[in-house]
Amino acid sequence: MSEVAKIELGGESYELPVITGSENEKAIDISKFRQETGYVTLDSGYKNTGATKSAITFLNGEEGILRYRGYPIEQLAENATFLEVAYLLLYGDLPNKDEYKLFESSINRHTLVHEDMKRFFEAYPSQAHPMGVLSSMICSLSTFYTESLDPYRSSDLKDLTIHRLIAKMPTLAAWAYKNSIRHPFIYPKNEYGYCENFLHMMYAMPTEDYKVDPIVSTALNKLLILHADHEQNCSTSTVRIVGSSQANLYATISAGISALWGPLHGGANQAVIEMLQQIHHDGGDVDKWVKKAKDKNDPFRLMGFGHRVYKNFDPRANIIKKSCDDVLNQMGINDPMLDIAKKLEKVALEDEYFKARNLYPNVDFYSGIIYKAIGIPTDMFTVMFAMGRLPGWISQWKEMLENNDPIGRPRQIYTGHKNRDYVKLEDR
Ligand code: CMC
Repeated sequence: MSEVAKIELGGESYELPVITGSENEKAIDISKFRQETGYVTLDSGYKNTGATKSAITFLNGEEGILRYRGYPIEQLAENATFLEVAYLLLYGDLPNKDEYKLFESSINRHTLVHEDMKRFFEAYPSQAHPMGVLSSMICSLSTFYTESLDPYRSSDLKDLTIHRLIAKMPTLAAWAYKNSIRHPFIYPKNEYGYCENFLHMMYAMPTEDYKVDPIVSTALNKLLILHADHEQNCSTSTVRIVGSSQANLYATISAGISALWGPLHGGANQAVIEMLQQIHHDGGDVDKWVKKAKDKNDPFRLMGFGHRVYKNFDPRANIIKKSCDDVLNQMGINDPMLDIAKKLEKVALEDEYFKARNLYPNVDFYSGIIYKAIGIPTDMFTVMFAMGRLPGWISQWKEMLENNDPIGRPRQIYTGHKNRDYVKLEDR
């Protein structure tokens, strides 16, 4: 007999079906609960709400497990290319050699952006945050590729839109940076791989080629893979909600980029470096800052610590921590920020406050240090996260369309005024 949950309300008993996932995850299906009982469930921040069924990413926060389409993140980060992982997320399986070649050449064919878009960049002030520029530019792609406006038009067109978006992301991201330093844009070179091409557009000059350092491109490939998907987090849920209204893919991803920007989500990688710099300039007294983070009257939090779902360790942080040490050693970099980060990590991990709340360094604690080491400017860190998360967002959007998920529309408990009559302005 299938499992059911029983609930007593106002003397009545109701049975609710239990749904079991492929990793034995359990959920109580409440989709008909309001219809039957008049009650809704309340869960601020969706801390315990399953918003969808998904076959893309499996995450077990208690055991520190992360798998894309069944493959452990450790194996993918060690062996795969970012485009292989993008294909895996989008289409469900790793590509064979022919499929990979076709996918890669399609991505390479679409790396250029329309020349008219360059004029948009020029209108932004140089101090514009590249996340604001990126989000607008991605949305603007919908004005150039109007066939994308109907996400249901055909699966070939859907694929074309997806490939265009993955291909143009590094170009738009690198150009957002070039624009901020008022340097000329560098066009993509399609003989390069995905990461090399991005680095070339970031660092080459019309007067000077940039020789891509394999240490740097390997580190970047790993970072993008580690960020490629993370099931129903804030930005991915945004993507699903926006996409559920059948908005086009470019507008939908632009919304995801905006959601990622905040310091409690993707913006944490920038916030970590800013915090380390602040501690450094303040004399490097780590204990003082740990004390501040514990003080409930002080809004300061240790950025890069804690996670909504990982309550033991973040498997991405374990991989990246090692990669961080390797990159810094190989490049011969001695960074005082890293020393502060290590001290902070040690002090916090031994502190009762952090232990009791299961607060461990997350992926963003280390990613910022690597980005800094490979020369990515601080305000581009979250753009790097967006570049990595892109295939995950698109896969979740694609799955949502394929599953015919309904429009996202939560309920609420109203706590405002009861009915009252309007009083004319002159009488108030
Ligand atoms: N420093 C100090 N205290 C913290 C921290 C922190 N970084 N994170 C959580 N706490 C405390 C919090 O004050 C609360 O204490 P109490 O129970 O006494 O009220 C307790 O730990 C639980 O925190 P919460 O805010 O209820 O937990 P949450 O699951 O809602 O928030 C989080 C998760 C990631 C937003 C939070 O840990 C945080 O703000 N961390 C710093 C920002 C950060 O690094 N974000 C990146 C997340 S990883 C990238 C991504 O996937 O987005």
